[in-house]
Parts: sequence; structure tokens; C-alpha cells
Amino acid sequence: MKKITIAIDGFSSTGKSTVAKQLAKHLGYIYVDTGAMYRAVTWFAMQHGFIDAHHFEASKLVAALNTITISFKFNDIVGFAEVYLNGVKIEKEIRTLEVSRYVSQVAAVSEVRSQLVQQQQQMGKDKGVVMDGRDIGTVVFPDAELKLFMIASAEKRARRRFDELIERGDEVTYADVLKNVEDRDYIDSHREDSPLRKAEDAIELDNSNLDLITQFERVLLLVNQRF
Ligand code: C5P
Repeated sequence: MKKITIAIDGFSSTGKSTVAKQLAKHLGYIYVDTGAMYRAVTWFAMQHGFIDAHHFEASKLVAALNTITISFKFNDIVGFAEVYLNGVKIEKEIRTLEVSRYVSQVAAVSEVRSQLVQQQQQMGKDKGVVMDGRDIGTVVFPDAELKLFMIASAEKRARRRFDELIERGDEVTYADVLKNVEDRDYIDSHREDSPLRKAEDAIELDNSNLDLITQFERVLLLVNQRF
């Protein structure tokens, strides 16, 4: 059967990864969470003291980029591929609000983007991939057969992210999470290199008031039209 490339972009916490995982499972495709890759580089920068609340030494991070290997390994128990940095699983570490605070600054560095984009293109070269992020339909796979651009109100998105963090046992406030979502949206859509924007041929999906089943049915309809 013909395989296609599915690109899912959108603002933070719009539910991209939920749809992407559902689709990948349904179609037997690979799912690539590109946000996890930017988060992994951010985690590396934090561990090496290149970034904190007061400074960001982008040049030191750039100089160390060739020492970073990011990989994914499918975990049958959780049902998705988890992210590894230089062979060490960091799936849990990268999901904290602290990493979320710094990730957009790291993702604005062109050298970081070009290294990760190259790896993402390699991972999706045989098609049969669902990839989510901010620049998948515009930069990574501009020829993707299906491009979705997901949106939802900032409050809805912050509520989702807040609930996720609380469930993990993190101590965060809703106000902090909302501020982070808004800050990241601003930086991601105003950076010079590959700013977040809807590709001309992307289909917008507002899921502020959609339940997961209805959303999936709509997306599946779009997928089936591509075969
Ligand atoms: O998807 P997630 O919210 O985990 O992404 C974290 C951050 O990584 C985003 O806020 C953005 O700064 C960056 N990112 C990006 N390009 C992508 C995926 C993520 O710049 N393709």
C-alpha cells in the first residue's frame, strides 16, 4: 500500500502529539515527536551549564552539537517511542516546565535547527511517517501529502499542559503554565529561522471544543482522501 507523509504543526499543547500517536498506531507508521528533539538539546545545554534563568551561551552549545546524538526507541509498555540523549533515556526529564522555559531560545538557534531538521528528514525519507512540530509542513517536509495545523485557545492549551504536569507530580501553578505557553508561542512564531506559521496548503483544525474521537474521525477522513 502507498505510504504518505503526515505533517502536524501548531502552537504549544494543541494536542498534536495525541493525534499523531493515534494516526501512527492506526496506520502502522513511525511517529516522530520533533519537540522532544529540541527538548533533548535543551536538556543537554542545561546539564552543561550553557543555559539557565540568567544566561544562554549559544556559541558553547553550537560548539558541542557534534557530541549530541538523539535517538528514539519504541517502548511497548507505553506504546510510543521514547527519546534518548547519547544512549540515556531522558523521556521524563525533558517534559518539565523548566525545560519548557528554555526550549524556545534553544530552538531559535539556526545551527541547532539545521542539525535536527537533517535528522528528521532522514527519519522520514521512506514516508510512512507522522511527524509533529512547528516547521514540519513548511521546512522539514514541504511536500508532505497531508499537512495539519492545529489550534486551540491558550487557556484550553494551558489547562491540558497543567493537568499533564500535575499528573506527573510536578509542582506548578496554572498561571505559570499559561505564561509559558504564551511565551513559547511568541518566540516560536517570531524567530528569524523557520518561524511557526501555517503552510499555505495546511488544513487548520481547531480542537478547542472537539472530543478526541470526533477529532480523530475528522483527521482519518482527510488521510483516507490522500490514498
Ligand atoms: O512540541 P513541544 O511543545 O514539545 O516543543 C517544544 C519546543 O520545541 C517548541 O516550543 C519550539 O520552541 C521547539 N520546536 C521547534 N520546532 C519543532 C518542534 C519543536 O522549534 N519542529
